[in-house]
Amino acid sequence: MMFEAKISLSEVMAALFTMTLILISVRIIGNMTKKHILPPGPWSLPIVGNLLQLGEHPHLSFIQMRKKYGDVFLLKLGMIPVVVVNGLDMVKQVLLRDGESFAGRPKMHSFSFFADGKSLSFSVEYGESWKLHKKIASKALRSFSKSEAKTSTCSCLLEEHVCAEASALVKMFLELSLEKGAFDPTGITTCTVANIVCALCFGKRYDYNDEEFLSMIRINADFLKATSIVNPADFIPWFRYLPIPAVKAAHGFYEVLNNFIAQRVEEHYTTYDKNHLRDITDALISISNDKGSDGKAPPLSNDKIISTVNDIFGAGFDAVSTCLFWIFLYLVNNPDIQTKIQEEIDGKIGLRSPRFDDRKDLHYTEAFISEILRHTSFIPFTIPHRATKETILNGYLIPQDTCIFVNMYQVNHDETLWENADLFRPERFLNENGELNKSLVEKVLVFGMGIRKCLGEDIACNEIFIILTTILQQLKLEKCFQDQLDLTPVYGLSMKPKPYQIQVVLRT
Ligand code: HEM
Ligand SMILES: *[C@@H]1O[C@H](CO)[C@@H](O)[C@H](O)[C@H]1NC(C)=O
Repeated sequence: MMFEAKISLSEVMAALFTMTLILISVRIIGNMTKKHILPPGPWSLPIVGNLLQLGEHPHLSFIQMRKKYGDVFLLKLGMIPVVVVNGLDMVKQVLLRDGESFAGRPKMHSFSFFADGKSLSFSVEYGESWKLHKKIASKALRSFSKSEAKTSTCSCLLEEHVCAEASALVKMFLELSLEKGAFDPTGITTCTVANIVCALCFGKRYDYNDEEFLSMIRINADFLKATSIVNPADFIPWFRYLPIPAVKAAHGFYEVLNNFIAQRVEEHYTTYDKNHLRDITDALISISNDKGSDGKAPPLSNDKIISTVNDIFGAGFDAVSTCLFWIFLYLVNNPDIQTKIQEEIDGKIGLRSPRFDDRKDLHYTEAFISEILRHTSFIPFTIPHRATKETILNGYLIPQDTCIFVNMYQVNHDETLWENADLFRPERFLNENGELNKSLVEKVLVFGMGIRKCLGEDIACNEIFIILTTILQQLKLEKCFQDQLDLTPVYGLSMKPKPYQIQVVLRT
């Protein structure tokens, strides 16, 4: 016989009432003992908040504000509260020690174009399914990085692609120089890097005159303007309905890029061969299939594969080319540093083509790359984070869902960490025997840390190394006039140099 509980309505009411009372008192007592207050920060105007106080270079304005308010302060960008985090210790607290509490992404207008929330980098959702997604993406990148080269001289497929593209860039530099004398190296460099990413993602390169390829690159420039970290449309909601070019550009780019990628992924499904992984798309398909075969649902849907390729494509394309723009600029501004790198290449590599493996022997060149990353800090902030739950930081209350900016630029220019931080000095990473100090290199904060760390650090560093050494092995880069070129960046999610021109001569 079934047991029947006979409880009267009044008993239920009484129980509910008592429970509510307990809950309320716990809440009140909790709040009383917590006594935590929001972080301090400057006064803000209605509607625009502190937007007008950010100036042209928010990362520098924040360094000024830090002097007054400390490492953790609160701003209003438009109507949205944003906590800015500075100082290595607080940055580590947010990204490592309390990593889980700050691993979300804010719901931002410019991010919302990416793959309807399926994006690895920008999706608002943070949870088990996102963690699995990131693990799979990271596994796919690793398994692809190890896939074998078609020719025997390269250690892997990636190296083969990068070396081929770097040699093509040297040729293009020489052609442009012959044709025009002085030229802007950024356009052709972007094509080179885009082609490496295409090879990585789709196993194929594009002709530099391919229309589809070029239109994608052109729109990319407008798109990046739209995703700069203080895109007003993100912070003043009604801005997004105004016909502002930057806001519209993001729409256009997303569509072009997404169509391009969806088509390539489609092609891969039809030609997929599990015994021969051609690229990252194949690696992702393979990992999805693996899990599918043991009865469980495949961990990545087709949409998610497309959006993962999308993420890797977008991330790998802009950051690496921007880094190279800065490298060329610093090389022509500092001819003596350029000569030192060339001497190292001549001594350690000679005339054969550079390889990933050479990185361990070229200490000065590696120090130069680290110093470029530190000194320019061309990605001044991580992608914005979001508090996944209410958290205490530096004694202040950070409510759930607060948007967090991590000021990596500040950490890389902190005088307590770096002697004469504003000086460009590759030697700071070398010991007295000219060997690279690994622990100093790791102190440079450019790829983020912890749960949200960049997936492409190794690939990016290898790419940059090969392109830099292949160019300097064969060419000498020079500026066109005697004056130093301007190093003031144009602000954005990644900061670019102002347009500049160089000329190149063949080394003899
Ligand atoms: C010099 C080149 C690069 C720099 C400086 C860079 C830097 C960064 C930074 C600062 C973040 C955000 C970290 C955070 O929000 O805390 C990030 C995220 C990311 N990067 Fe990179 N990156 C570079 C190249 C690449 C490349 C080549 C790839 C792909 C092959 C890549 C893939 C990603 C992905 C997928 C994310 C999103 C991770 C997430 O949201 O959890 N990056 N990168
Ligand atoms: C690296 O540099 C740090 C700081 O200057 C120093 O304390 C450390 O001993 C160096 N390590 C090596 C292996 O040279």
